[in-house]
Amino acid sequence: MIDQMYRKAVLTVSGQKFVEDLVRSRAWSVAQRFVAGEDIPAALQAVRELEKDGILGNLDLLGEFIDSPEQCNAFAERVLQLLDAANAAGIRPYVSVKLSSVGQGQLVNGEDLGLTNARRIVGKAKQYGGFVCLDMEDHPRVDITLAQFRTLVGEFGNDTVGTVLQSYLYRTADDLAGLGDLHPNLRIVKGAYLEPESVAMPDKADVDASYRRLVYAQMKAGNYVNVATHDESIIEDVKHFVLAHGIRKDQFEFQMLYGIRRDLQKELAAQGYRVRAYIPYGRDWYAYFSRRIAERPANVLFVLRGMLKG
Ligand code: FDA
Repeated sequence: MIDQMYRKAVLTVSGQKFVEDLVRSRAWSVAQRFVAGEDIPAALQAVRELEKDGILGNLDLLGEFIDSPEQCNAFAERVLQLLDAANAAGIRPYVSVKLSSVGQGQLVNGEDLGLTNARRIVGKAKQYGGFVCLDMEDHPRVDITLAQFRTLVGEFGNDTVGTVLQSYLYRTADDLAGLGDLHPNLRIVKGAYLEPESVAMPDKADVDASYRRLVYAQMKAGNYVNVATHDESIIEDVKHFVLAHGIRKDQFEFQMLYGIRRDLQKELAAQGYRVRAYIPYGRDWYAYFSRRIAERPANVLFVLRGMLKG
């Protein structure tokens, strides 16, 4: 409950225009802890750095609430450029995409623009032997994202496209069951958006319990699981679960965000687990950065200290 109140307070304050302007102008040096840089070379450089520690990358071009079809198409072009650049650099492209940023919900030529653009992105990733994960956004987008995921798996296969389920939503266990026939590649997260209590569990203990249930169910079904959390107690439990149930190390991976718990990322990789860091980059870093701050009270102090230092 307190977590929820804290998150709400930070996301409400960070949504104010003057706060955004202030943070944007004063906190880029702080944001760089969580954001790899503003362009493709910086993002690929981050992948190379992580590779040295045996950690894989998951590239994410930042951009939210892009509204016109032109902007959405331009954003999709930039993701396609990222795939080309990664491939040219000898990096197997693995990217995450928010369908809202490529036009989800906008009808153009009789089709949802998000789906049209996702098709181009997933098609190119397939051509390069890469992978695209469709990030999950706030709850009104869950139905459409899962429906578009289903379409894309049908066209490109579950080895090229995956999506995300959020354990804080009451509906998620049913969503997992409903996707069963696809043998989907799923990233399980707790959920990062400010959601009403009518749709999302307000208590952290319930969210954590739901998280474990979802991961275990996906593993038992024999499907690939991206265990995306920094929660050490969950990670320890997952390690025990896979041992007890004979789940192979190539049926799952741990995923964490760039700049968060680097020690744990390295430790898991050294223990022989597959570990992937989610590497955001791009000029539009503010909303992503605000969500990271909203996850942990200590991060507010970290930002304020950084801003005072200039
Ligand atoms: P929890 O919040 O309980 O934190 C556990 C511990 O991790 C904390 O005690 C702290 O030590 C550390 N920690 C967590 N967040 C931190 C932070 N910001 N700074 C410093 N330490 C921190 N969400 C979503 O809604 N849609 C999505 O598509 C994705 N995608 C995604 C990909 C990947 C790879 C990850 C890791 C996460 C996401 N998320 C997401 C975000 C997710 O929903 C969630 O908000 C964060 O992962 C934080 O939750 P934890 O599971 O880490 O647990």
